[in-house]
Amino acid sequence: MGVTILGIESSCDETSAAVLHERTVLSNIIANQKVHEKYGGVVPELASRAHQSNIVPVIDQALAEAGTTLEEIDAIAYTIGPGLLGSLMVGSSFAKGLSIALNKPLIEVNHMKAHVMAHFIDHPEQQMPALPFICLTVSGGHTQLVLVNSPNEMEVIGQTLDDAAGEAFDKAAKIMGLPYPGGPLIDKYAKDGLPDRFEFSKPQVGELEFSFSGLKTSFLYFLREKTQSNPNFIENNLNDLCASIQKTIVDILIEKLMGAAEKYGVKTLAIAGGVSANSALRQAVTDLKHHGYAAHIPVFSYCTDNAAMIAMAGYYSYLAGEFGELDSTPMARMQF
Ligand code: KG4
Ligand code: ZN
Repeated sequence: MGVTILGIESSCDETSAAVLHERTVLSNIIANQKVHEKYGGVVPELASRAHQSNIVPVIDQALAEAGTTLEEIDAIAYTIGPGLLGSLMVGSSFAKGLSIALNKPLIEVNHMKAHVMAHFIDHPEQQMPALPFICLTVSGGHTQLVLVNSPNEMEVIGQTLDDAAGEAFDKAAKIMGLPYPGGPLIDKYAKDGLPDRFEFSKPQVGELEFSFSGLKTSFLYFLREKTQSNPNFIENNLNDLCASIQKTIVDILIEKLMGAAEKYGVKTLAIAGGVSANSALRQAVTDLKHHGYAAHIPVFSYCTDNAAMIAMAGYYSYLAGEFGELDSTPMARMQF
C-alpha cells in the first residue's frame, strides 16, 4: 500500500511531472524550454504557451515511466506559487481538471518549501537532515535562509533585499556575453580559472540579509573599464573572471549560512534550489563538516526545478490532512 502522489511543477520555465510512492521517486519528467535562450531570460508569455503544449505529454510520460495508472494516484500536488502567474495557471488548471475528473484531492505546494523538501526524496531516514536544520535556498528568484522545524513547519529567517543568488550568476554571465541561464556556464568555466585573481567587494547588509545588486554593478563597471583598454579582456580572462565572481558569491552565501547557524544554535545545515547545483557551493558546504556541522547537499537532479520535490512536499501535506480547494488561485508572490 502506501501513498502515491502525482506532482506537477510549472512555476517558471520547466514543465515537470513526477510520481512519488511514499518517499520514492517512480518517475520525474522535466521538459526544459529552449525558447528563452535567445532572449537572455525567461519570457513569461512564451513560458505559459510552452507549458500549455508540454503539460499533457509530460504527465503522460511520468505516469507511463512510473507504471502507475491515474486510478492509483492518491492525490495531485501542484505548485501554487511563487512564480510566473501565467505559468502557474497552466499547472493549477490542469491539476484542478484532473482532480474533478478523478475525484481525487488536490494539494497546494509552495515552490520554495518544495526546494527544501528535495532533501527528503529517496533517502533512507538516517541520511535525511536531522530536525531542526537551516536550509539556504538559492534559486533564480529567491535567496532565503529557512529554519526547518519539520516538513510542514518552516520559517524564513533571512532573505535578499534585491537580486537572488541565481540572478547574480545569470546577470554576471550576461555582462560577459554568455547566454541564459548563465549560472551553469560560470560554474563550467570557473573550473579552469583562478578564484583569487580578481577581487570584488561584498555588500554591507544586516546579519541575515543578502544583497547582490551592488556586486552586479561593480562587476559591470570593472569590465567596462578593463575592456576600454583591452577589447578582448573578457575573452582572454573568461575562466578567471568566472572563478572569481563565483567565489565572491559563494563566500557571501557561506558566511550568511554560518551566521544563521550560530545565531540559532543549529548544527545541521543544508542548501537547496537551482544554485545548489553549483560545484563550488556544493564543495564549500561539504567542507562545513570540518567545522563541526552536519552538512547536506541535495541530489544534483533535484536542485533545479522538478516535480519530484513538489510531490515530496505534497506527501507531507497529505499525511497532515492539508488539502487544496478548487477555487484557490495561484500566487506570483507568496509567503511561507
Ligand atoms: O530553482 P531554479 O531551477 O529555478 C527557480 O526557482 O528560480 O533555479 C534556477 C537558477 C538560475 O539562476 C540558474 O542560473 C541557477 O539556478 N543555476 C546555477 C547552476 N545551475 C543552475 N547557478 C550556478 N551554478 C550552477 N551550476
Ligand atoms: Zn525553483
